Amino acid sequence: MTIAGKAVLVTGANRGIGRALVEEALRRGPKRVYAGSRQPFSHPDERVTPLTLDVTSPAQIQAAAGQVESLDILINNAGVALYDDLSDRSVLQKHLDVNLFGTYGVTQAFLPLLTRSRGAIVNNVSMMALAPFPVTPAYAISKAAAFNMTQSLRALLAGRGVRVHAVLTGPTDTDMTRGFDIPKASPQSVAQAIFDGVDHGEEDIFPDPMSQTMADSWRGSVAKALEHEYAAFVQAQPAVA
Ligand SMILES: NC(=O)c1ccc[n+]([C@@H]2O[C@H](COP(=O)([O-])OP(=O)(O)OC[C@H]3O[C@@H](n4cnc5c(N)ncnc54)[C@H](OP(=O)(O)O)[C@@H]3O)[C@@H](O)[C@H]2O)c1
Repeated sequence: MTIAGKAVLVTGANRGIGRALVEEALRRGPKRVYAGSRQPFSHPDERVTPLTLDVTSPAQIQAAAGQVESLDILINNAGVALYDDLSDRSVLQKHLDVNLFGTYGVTQAFLPLLTRSRGAIVNNVSMMALAPFPVTPAYAISKAAAFNMTQSLRALLAGRGVRVHAVLTGPTDTDMTRGFDIPKASPQSVAQAIFDGVDHGEEDIFPDPMSQTMADSWRGSVAKALEHEYAAFVQAQPAVA
């Protein structure tokens, strides 16, 4: 799967990694880049089509899907991260609404187009899907859930020819990590590594120096082997309508 000649949709496209994904996609010769944003968004490149898209709004998701004729790659990138200590249920709910159900809702809406194109879904999850940083535990829970959903979708959609990638992103220099004084990758390098990972057919993409240190051990882990074992079980069953 290369981006050249393809239609790509990025959610949360107005800033941070999403904005870098739009720019990187444009460098790779796409047919069209749909830039989903809940903010007013414009881009000088005529291959960019802005879409009003709050991923928590079923109406906006439906309207966006109606504006897209064909789609090859959906990148669920929109996300929210707030500091918390798990004492406030509403904070957990907010993370789940955006990071889990937002990704779910957008994916379901665009699945018919992706099935038709035998395309790909790319979910920008986080290293925190594998281990929580307890300064943002609600965020980590939502990303663990989104990663788990990604693994199931990968198995469930394989028979339809739709590839499903998880991006286990580490610290990247965006508004989201402004409060952390730690080494961070640039959004541009992360965007580049995400598309390279899709090109190379990597199920799980580790797009920055910190996440890369985990790549080999994750790919050789008991948990990854179990994912493949369970996926083979699903793929051996007759499709359920
Ligand atoms: N930065 C990191 O270190 C890091 C590490 C691991 C994973 N990630 C993941 O990478 C993705 C992008 O993060 P980032 O670092 O680029 O963060 P960011 O700069 O804070 O950007 C977040 C993006 O998500 C959008 N968004 C938030 N809620 C939304 C909603 N309800 N509907 C639509 N869009 C919404 C924001 O739009 P508004 O401008 O409207 O708020 C913004 O475009 C997120 O999923 C994040 O969890 C980031």
